[in-house]
Amino acid sequence: MKQKIETLLQEIEMSIIESPEQAEQYRLKYLSKKGELNNLFADFKNIDSSEKKEIGVLINNLKERAQHKFNEAQLLQSNTTYTQAQNDLTKPGFPFSIGTLHPLTITRQSILAIFERIGFTVAEGPEIEDDWHNFSALNFPEDHPARDMQDTFFIDKDFALRTHTSSVQVRLMENQKPPFRSLMPGRVYRNEAISARAHCFFHQIEGLYIDKNVSFADMKQTLLYFAQEMFGAKTKIRLRPSYFPFTEPSAEMDVSCFICNSKGCTVCKHSGWVEIMGCGMVDPAVLINCGIDHEKYSGFAFGMGIERIAMLKYKVNDLRLFSENDIRFLNQFQSASE
Ligand code: PHE
Repeated sequence: MKQKIETLLQEIEMSIIESPEQAEQYRLKYLSKKGELNNLFADFKNIDSSEKKEIGVLINNLKERAQHKFNEAQLLQSNTTYTQAQNDLTKPGFPFSIGTLHPLTITRQSILAIFERIGFTVAEGPEIEDDWHNFSALNFPEDHPARDMQDTFFIDKDFALRTHTSSVQVRLMENQKPPFRSLMPGRVYRNEAISARAHCFFHQIEGLYIDKNVSFADMKQTLLYFAQEMFGAKTKIRLRPSYFPFTEPSAEMDVSCFICNSKGCTVCKHSGWVEIMGCGMVDPAVLINCGIDHEKYSGFAFGMGIERIAMLKYKVNDLRLFSENDIRFLNQFQSASE
């Protein structure tokens, strides 16, 4: 028995494992169920109990050695394949996905680019705002429903998450001198139940144009230019009277439905028009609040939701998709971001 163990040990030491086939042969010969080692263990049962201790140790050593050699060979083999791949510099690189811009980023960039072409610059401000910048300076009366807990996320009695980026307009007017031609993109928060059409946060781009002798006609022409650049040269706009505390007169702007060419579809609810933004002439009270001479200067402001524009442009029917990070959704904007 001792002799047999010795011979096997030598055999094992001498055996060469350099290919998967050799490894398999080795495994079958020594380590498998019907292999040499198991045979030895079977014989071990029959030997004299006085020898058991000594021989047991030898067999266990042999087993360990056999297994170790096999494991080492396996490791070496997998390493070699890896190193070979690394060393072969003519091999094509490993493919990896480069990701895409988020559809809201794409939409934001195209809106900003359109206005930048006619001289607008970008202004940003904090998402946590005080009552003055979000409401009071903008002429919201003390008891205006938008200040209500229903709509606004209050942080404490003085601060809230901004409900629109008009707060950045106030900061701009307070800190700089007219003329202004600026855009205020950013995230805004409203306490709404989350559904396909509403979310408790969304993104806006607002605009402010203040100079001497700015008229309603200037606003109309600027917004027509935007609509045609954004939705196509044939796009028409329509202004409907509306109300905002900070503009007078105020309007909602519709564009002719570019999905059905105003023939009537579910997006425009068969009216031929889709609403895309609020706008109006800046109320003189707001100019006064921000320290601007309202006799000398006038201007217009507008504000739109980026989600809304993106939904229309890409025919997305559920607002929640924008914040769920589902790769199957995001991947669809691959070509749009190029
Ligand atoms: N601040 C308005 C809103 O959030 C949008 C708006 C901006 C309307 C500027 C008119 C002028 O709904």
